Order: sequence, then structure tokens, then C-alpha cells
Amino acid sequence: MKPIQVNDLHKTYLQGRLSTKVLKGLSFSLDEGEFVSLVGPSGSGKTTLLHVLGGFEDYDGSVELFGKELKTYTETEKARMRAHDIGFVFQFYNLIPNLTAYENILLASVLGKHKTKDDIMAVLAMVGMEAFAHYHPGRLSGGMQQRVAIARCLINEPRIIFADEPTGNLDYKNGLAIMDLFKTLNIEHKKTILMVSHNEETTRYGTRVLHLLDGKVIKDERLAI
Ligand SMILES: Nc1ncnc2c1ncn2[C@@H]1O[C@H](COP(=O)(O)OP(=O)(O)OP(=O)(O)O)[C@@H](O)[C@H]1O
Ligand SMILES: [Mg+2]
Repeated sequence: MKPIQVNDLHKTYLQGRLSTKVLKGLSFSLDEGEFVSLVGPSGSGKTTLLHVLGGFEDYDGSVELFGKELKTYTETEKARMRAHDIGFVFQFYNLIPNLTAYENILLASVLGKHKTKDDIMAVLAMVGMEAFAHYHPGRLSGGMQQRVAIARCLINEPRIIFADEPTGNLDYKNGLAIMDLFKTLNIEHKKTILMVSHNEETTRYGTRVLHLLDGKVIKDERLAI
């Protein structure tokens, strides 16, 4: 069973009388253990695709997550899927500013698999942030905040990690360090990753590149590792 199987996916946004066709018959599947970069010009539908896969948007066509059509998930099943099976990492980290690094991860754990204090410290150690557990995000650099956000995404042991330009707000050096971390998660921890990438250089950390143009996959490129 493939973690993701998308067939002839269409997505149109309606705003009043304005309709914008964004995804126009997009198909691809993802195997367990792949690290796929999603590239394409601004407006080609990369973020929209992640939002559909996360169950945040309705759509036409077929999207199967873990062998089950997403349209058939109830709201409760979707909430459970988001808390247990998938992890999100965003460009702007999306940490809660008045909670410490530890508490940000604890909150995700309470909403998910109810992990122990040791588990939380272990994911912080995995991203090299155990010494900063009790810091609030405002006292951490962008790269450090992104590490905490990755630890938060790992705490519930997701089956897939979705990341939307996770290095887009970081300087070059911190960006590469975060890419190294994703590569380790893929190779050593066997995490399946689908990452929107703006930058050609970051795609070489993955195993495959999906090129989007105008709402369709125009090229599916497997990389030699
Ligand atoms: N909630 C929304 N309502 C209406 N239109 C939207 C909405 N979200 C996105 N769009 C439109 O859909 C198109 C694709 O947007 P999307 O954010 O998926 O592109 P993207 O490939 O992620 O671009 P970028 O590289 O700039 O992040 C754009 O034309 C955008 O204006
Ligand atoms: Mg985007």
C-alpha cells in the first residue's frame, strides 16, 4: 500500500464569482521511504497540493492516503490522521510564541500520541536542541526555531512529513543544515518526505523531484543517491 496515490486531481478555488483553476489533472504516487522534492514556478499549485493532501481542502479526482480515499474520511478521522499519521513543517515555523520549545512539542503530543517527557527530550536531542528546551521561540534563531518545529513534527512519529519551503526563510548555511537534518531523517530514520522546494540546490538532498507546471506534473525525475 502506497502512502500517497493521487489520480487526476483537480482543484479550483472559488471566491465569489471568481474561479481559479489551480490543479488541473495532477497524478503521482509516493512510495514509503522516498524523499520527494516538489518544484515549480510560483503559483503552480505546490502549496495547494500539500493542503489537499493534509485534508484541508476539497477536490475533484482521487487522493488516497494510506490506501484510503481522503474524501471518505470523516472530520474526526481527518483530525486523527493529521495528529497521528502526517507531520507538517512550514516556512515560518508556526511555533506558539508564548510556549517554550518543550511546551510546543508537548502540545502536539497531547493532541496526538501522548508521549512522555523523555520522548520529547529525545526528539529535541535528535534535532540538536535539547539544551534549549525551556527557551521561548523569540529567543531562538530562525534555524533553531525550524529545528524545534521539526522536533514537533516528529513527536507523533508521522508516517509522512510534508514540508513547505522549510528553508525559505533561512540564510544559506542554516538552510543547508536543515536540509542535512531532513536527509538524516530520510536515510537513518526511514521517514517518507514530500517537500516543496524553491531552490534547485535543495532538491539534491532528496531521492526524486516532481516538477509542477500550471497544475500538472510535467516531469518526474528519480535521482541517483
Ligand atoms: N485559498 C485560496 N483562495 C483562492 N485562491 C488561492 C488560494 N490559495 C491559493 N490560491 C491561488 O492558487 C494558485 C496556486 O497557489 P499556490 O499557493 O498553491 O502556489 P505555489 O506553487 O505554492 O506558489 P509559491 O511558490 O508562490 O508558494 C495561485 O494563483 C493562488 O493565488
Ligand atoms: Mg507555496
